Amino acid sequence: MSDTIGVIGATRGTGLEVMRQLIASGRPAVAVARNLEKARGLFGDKATLVYGDVTRPETLAEAIDPAWAGLVFTVDISGGIGGRGMFAGREAIRAVMYGGLVNTVEAAKKRGFTGRVVLLSTIGLSIDSTSMKILNWIKSGLRDHSLDKGEYLKRSGVEWTIVRAGILNKKASGEHTLLVTGEDQPLQMRYQIGRADLARLMLASVTHPAVRNREFSAFWGEAGHDSDEQLAAKLATAFGA
Ligand SMILES: NC(=O)c1ccc[n+]([C@@H]2O[C@H](COP(=O)([O-])OP(=O)(O)OC[C@H]3O[C@@H](n4cnc5c(N)ncnc54)[C@H](OP(=O)(O)O)[C@@H]3O)[C@@H](O)[C@H]2O)c1
Repeated sequence: MSDTIGVIGATRGTGLEVMRQLIASGRPAVAVARNLEKARGLFGDKATLVYGDVTRPETLAEAIDPAWAGLVFTVDISGGIGGRGMFAGREAIRAVMYGGLVNTVEAAKKRGFTGRVVLLSTIGLSIDSTSMKILNWIKSGLRDHSLDKGEYLKRSGVEWTIVRAGILNKKASGEHTLLVTGEDQPLQMRYQIGRADLARLMLASVTHPAVRNREFSAFWGEAGHDSDEQLAAKLATAFGA
């Protein structure tokens, strides 16, 4: 197994933060992108760029390298109002959110991938809240698509970690400590996390033994900064170990 991490969803949001951190740390990174021109503009020659569209399984077989240590999956539907797929049709959203993960993992399995898939999900999918109802309406079926992708991954036979993130924002990393817990939480504004901090946690989850085949919630705690060691300790004790 190589040290390389593959990132799908690399050209925006959390996946882009994952890529930036990999590049900054000098760790080999592969961005799987459906828009290579955009990826080239973002990463230049600092990462390997390969074409892959998660709704087109035939493109994934070539894109995924079985030697990767981990595959970070942060894909979400783009386009439409706000560029985030709001009010797109339910089936179009499902094809990316759920179908995209299934296509990716099936391609990885066929290629003999033995690393860990780290999947970005959302807190509060199973807890009734007004925010979740609204989100599920503007992004039709999001709750089912997200729950189904998690359940699929757990049964897929690959090694996995699911990170249920709080409400995402673009604020800089390192200004808040992180809370990591096996418990789910309702989708509420008090459970927020910056994409850059989340990216750091997702990368730490690629190899951490305590979160192998585990699902946990992550959101900001008090002001401050977790060192790498503190972050690793939080993952180690997320399930009461
Ligand atoms: N928004 C929240 O508050 C919140 C909270 C918790 C969890 N989440 C979860 O976080 C995830 C989204 O994270 P984000 O907002 O950071 O991501 P994002 O900014 O929406 O980025 C999505 C990425 O997916 C890529 N993508 C879209 N369709 C694709 C396709 N067919 N093939 C390959 N790549 C494709 C996009 O590529 P392009 O650049 O080419 O468009 C982009 O790189 C979702 O799973 C969501 O449920 C969101």
